[in-house]
Amino acid sequence: MKGIILAGGAGTRLYPLTKVLSKQLLPVYDKPMIYYPLSTLMLAGIRDILLISTPEDLPRFRDLLGDGGQFGTRISYAPQEKPEGLAQAFLIGEEFIAGEPCAMILGDNLFYGGWFSQNLKEAVENSAQGFATVFGYYVKDPRRFGVMELDGEHKVLSIEEKPEKPKSNYCVTGLYFYDGDAVKMAKQVRPSPRGELEITDMNRLYLQEGRLRAQVLGRGFAWMDAGTMNSLMEAATFVETVQSRQGVVISAPEEIAYYAGWISKKELLRAAGDCGNSPYGEHLKRVAEDRFIR
Ligand code: DAU
Repeated sequence: MKGIILAGGAGTRLYPLTKVLSKQLLPVYDKPMIYYPLSTLMLAGIRDILLISTPEDLPRFRDLLGDGGQFGTRISYAPQEKPEGLAQAFLIGEEFIAGEPCAMILGDNLFYGGWFSQNLKEAVENSAQGFATVFGYYVKDPRRFGVMELDGEHKVLSIEEKPEKPKSNYCVTGLYFYDGDAVKMAKQVRPSPRGELEITDMNRLYLQEGRLRAQVLGRGFAWMDAGTMNSLMEAATFVETVQSRQGVVISAPEEIAYYAGWISKKELLRAAGDCGNSPYGEHLKRVAEDRFIR
């Protein structure tokens, strides 16, 4: 299974913070934002990852993440010249995807909660069986998101992008799993009135073929998109609160890689050393020394 992180866009809602730095490189408490979506793909068992961003920002991502080997992954990079929609990622990534099942996550989406690994496992299985998977999350004001209408068994009835009159409070989060037809489907999507290739239109194509499944992330699950000043602050506060109360670190890719058996203890310790004496580095050392309770 392949994975794409889409981390482009102008980030103007965060100006002047994002004037010279990509939004997805801004800190969310103790680590760059991009670590969170990267960790989510890794938790799904995905090791072959394409990071798409603006031509200006790509070199900074490459400086930070390199070839991904330190996480036991393979990370490659591709530019998106203009932010022409989320579904465009599949056109840019056609060669990388090479007809395999593929997941995509938005670079500003943060997922955290119990049973998430199980959710991801089911999504991967759906992809292998020819289905797409989206993740629903109950929100107070769904109008600024993709919104899906579900029946009592969580079957998707309809899906709309930023509807004025939402049919439900379940928004579609920025994590999508597809089978090997993703590129074919993306090619059928036409620009929306706002001029973008909408991921919602691509998901609707799967729905029309009876191949769209939804998983609902329940109460107690935390999903955030850190795209505005307030949500960026909320995300940082959330991470700090959980980490300091529980002594865990949310979304440390090296830790995920170590527990998955993708990197050795020696490699984990090397990564810890590279982090100097930061709390993040200290945590990695604790994981390596097995003094850490998961
Ligand atoms: O976060 C979940 C929502 O993400 C979904 O509920 C919506 O269905 C989906 O359309 C998307 O809505 P947004 O309003 O958040 O989309 P936005 O245009 O802000 O783009 C989301 C992220 O993707 C943002 O960090 C910028 C980046 N992006 C966006 C576009 C359009 C790109 O990298 N390239 C693009 O072409």
